[in-house]
Order: sequence, then structure tokens, then C-alpha cells
Amino acid sequence: MSFIELNNIVKIFKDPQRGTDMLAIDHVSLSVEKKQLVCLLGPSGCGKSTLLNMIAGFEKATEGEVLVAGKPILGPGADRGMVFQQPNLMPWLPVWDNVAFALKLQGMNKKNRRQAAQPFIDAVKLTGFENHLPGELSGGMAQRVGIARALLQNPAVILMDEPFAALDAQTKLDMQEELVTIWQRYNSTIVFVTHSVDEALILGTQVVIMTHRPGRIRERIVIDLERPRDITSNAFNHIKRHILELIREEAQLARQDQQVAA
Ligand SMILES: Nc1ncnc2c1ncn2[C@@H]1O[C@H](COP(=O)(O)OP(=O)(O)OP(=O)(O)O)[C@@H](O)[C@H]1O
Ligand SMILES: [Mg+2]
Repeated sequence: MSFIELNNIVKIFKDPQRGTDMLAIDHVSLSVEKKQLVCLLGPSGCGKSTLLNMIAGFEKATEGEVLVAGKPILGPGADRGMVFQQPNLMPWLPVWDNVAFALKLQGMNKKNRRQAAQPFIDAVKLTGFENHLPGELSGGMAQRVGIARALLQNPAVILMDEPFAALDAQTKLDMQEELVTIWQRYNSTIVFVTHSVDEALILGTQVVIMTHRPGRIRERIVIDLERPRDITSNAFNHIKRHILELIREEAQLARQDQQVAA
């Protein structure tokens, strides 16, 4: 049995106003081994966030089951840390207190929380910014606080939903590099959702390409390019061309489906 297992997942969203059902995920099965960094790639609306939210326990599958470490997921838990596109920080708390927020909820005193936060602040290269408020941080720095906050709980799985999508190109590259370092250092298991083929190929040990809606798995590719990944290399671009071809096909199929529906 794999560390994360999605078995035959179907997700239907009900629209109570229109009285209609919408099939978002159509029999998806996916297994992720420990220490993998799996990138879920697919067009907008194909169900990437829905799948991630099911692993997180925020959404329930209509059919099928999600298992982590052999246990069915029935709701959110500290074993699964989530990093969102927006870091959702508490604006009135300094960086260190945001990072250690889970410990505050557990009632840990200030001195111990401050101490516990430091290694994670260092790991995301925010040393010196411990007492800054979120409003004083750049987008990339705020996103690092979100990552440090997820790491602090020592989750078995880190789930990331387009965490770098809002960052400028250079900051994005820096953050991708840092994420790989963190992933190697903490031996994390990461499921990472992205729209970007480059991002998936820079980060992933595997890339899972989804179809247009309803989401199914189109192809799963093991990426064994050496790290750090060279985005100009022939090997990188060979895989990139193949994935872009699949994405083009999916976009075309989506347009055909829309025409039939219209
Ligand atoms: N809570 C919800 N209620 C109703 N429909 C939903 C809900 N969440 C998602 N959907 C629908 O399910 C489909 C998949 O949505 P999802 O957010 O998982 O896509 P995505 O692949 O993450 O897209 P994007 O790349 O734009 O973030 C979409 O058609 C969306 O409208
Ligand atoms: Mg999404």
C-alpha cells in the first residue's frame, strides 16, 4: 500500500439553485509514495484543488476513498499541512507568531512558541524578519511564512495549491529552488498543484497530467532529470514538449465539448 492513496474518486458538486449535478472528478486513482514530490498539472477547472482538498480533508469524495498512511481521511488533521495561493496570515501577529500559530492554539506559552518557530523561520530564509508584521513583507516573504507555518507542525504530507502563482518570475524561481531544498532536508512528501509545465518539471519527482473537466488522469510521468533542473537542457525540453502536446489536446477537447453543450 502506498503512503497516499486515492481510490476511484468521484466528486459530484450539487448546485441547489439550478437543481443540477456537476461531475468534477471522474474515477481518479492515484498513489503517492513517501518522500515523493508529485505535481498535479491540468487546465483550470479540471479538479486539481478539489483533489488536494480531499487529501486535506476539507472536501469529501462522492464515491471512493482517500487513505493516508493506511487510514481513511475523514477530516482535516495536523498530519497534513496545507499551503495556499494566498498565505492567509494573521495581519496583527509578527512573523514568528504566525509561524507558531498552531502552538498558540495548543496553549503553549510565548517563550516556547518563539523558540519553536526559529528553526522554521531560518529554513525559509526569514532570519531577521521575525518581528515584522505581514503587511511589511513582500509576496514571496509572506508565502515563506505560510510554508514555515506548515513545516512547524511536522506534517507527514504537505499539500500546496499553486503557492507561487502570484509571485513575480524571479521570486518564483527562488521559491522553487528553496522548496526543493526544504523537501530534501525534511524528507517531506509533497503534493503540489500547478498550472505551469515549467514549475512541475523543476519541482516534481513525478508529474500527473489531468484531463479537462471532469478531471481524470491523462498521464503520469516519472521525472528523473538531475537536480538542480536545467530548464534549457534537451532532456527537460523533450518532456516539456510532450506535456504541452497533451495540454493542447486537452484544450481542444474542452472546446469541442463546449461546442456540443452550446
Ligand atoms: N465548492 C464547490 N461547489 C460547486 N462547484 C465546485 C466547488 N468547488 C469546485 N467546484 C467546481 O469543480 C470543478 C473543479 O474545480 P477545482 O477548483 O478543483 O479546479 P482546479 O483544477 O483547481 O482549477 P484552477 O486551476 O482554476 O484552480 C470546477 O468546475 C468548479 O467550478
Ligand atoms: Mg485550483
